[in-house]
Amino acid sequence: MRKKPNIPRNRHFLKLTDFTREELQEIIDLSMMLKEAHYAGVDLPLLKNKSLAILFSELSTRTRISFETAMTQLGGHALYISGKTIYMGEHETMRDTSEVISRMTDAAVLRIGKHETMEEYAEDSFTPVIDGCSQDSIEGTHPTQLIADFITMREHLPDTPWEDMTILRVGDLNLDLDGFGMVGRALSQMCAIFGMTYIACSPEGMEMPQRDIDAYNEIAKTSGAKIYLTDDPYKYIDKVDFIFGDSFYFAGYDEEGFKERRMPKLFPKYTIDQKLVDAAKENVGVLHCMPGHRDVELTSEVWDGPHSLLFEEAENRLHAQKGILTWLLYERQPSEELIKYHKGRIENFLEHRVNR
Ligand code: CP
Repeated sequence: MRKKPNIPRNRHFLKLTDFTREELQEIIDLSMMLKEAHYAGVDLPLLKNKSLAILFSELSTRTRISFETAMTQLGGHALYISGKTIYMGEHETMRDTSEVISRMTDAAVLRIGKHETMEEYAEDSFTPVIDGCSQDSIEGTHPTQLIADFITMREHLPDTPWEDMTILRVGDLNLDLDGFGMVGRALSQMCAIFGMTYIACSPEGMEMPQRDIDAYNEIAKTSGAKIYLTDDPYKYIDKVDFIFGDSFYFAGYDEEGFKERRMPKLFPKYTIDQKLVDAAKENVGVLHCMPGHRDVELTSEVWDGPHSLLFEEAENRLHAQKGILTWLLYERQPSEELIKYHKGRIENFLEHRVNR
């Protein structure tokens, strides 16, 4: 008879809205503690001997490298499994692949296109599944990116309550259009959860879908968050603490005419330039999850300028992954007594092998 392993079905990290504000704050705090320890030269083996499967069918620099390095620094191991190198729903069902991987590893991070495929995968995994960015218009988000973004904002404004922060997000916020805007949706979810003020600034046809606005307002009922919609980047600019940009177009989405169709709507009106930055609060921080296009979404002057937090944000992907993984996977070490029992049993067996 098939026996299921005695592994607790842990929490998945697929959507920010599956977590409470307190839980997300814990992950941010833990990530920042791990970062401080790392900078002091202390990397604790909190995930010793644990393995993370990184299943990616799409390009990635930051997400892939941050997860691999995170596992190394935590004393564990990451397996990078790209594209069609395993039977991922081919020659066997997705649920069979998922259960098998979860019997051998301790967690999986996926970037395999649609969020619903990830949900299907997670359904049969005995161990946590993490969304490494999903693109479709129903649930697609990029939750791990937002932990890094919130660390970056907290570092920039250490004493400002989340409720007092105003965020301006510029660009395409309509996932229904081209499957773009997953970071924008994740950002809006975090702003709603943390009671912040979110300004969604997009050109006509790229506005935040009503469903996302409704979801925001539902969370805001308890958090007190506010939302403003505009097509004018300057409308609320004097109140803004952080400006977020995102890619106007992307390699991999490049069907005929894709860039040409999108660019006239976005460029140059929604490019974050020095004039916009100068109109915001004096200490405004500028973020962009990267990869991005210099002198398209942000001018190089802003990208490399004193308000840019882009590279801190990118580095914080590493510290965020460490926080997320440790929060999800950390377990107390087995007792001395249990270790002694198993060590004695195995050593005794080895001592008495018949052919010794
Ligand atoms: N921001 C982000 O997810 O970067 P990668 O696509 O390089 O992982």
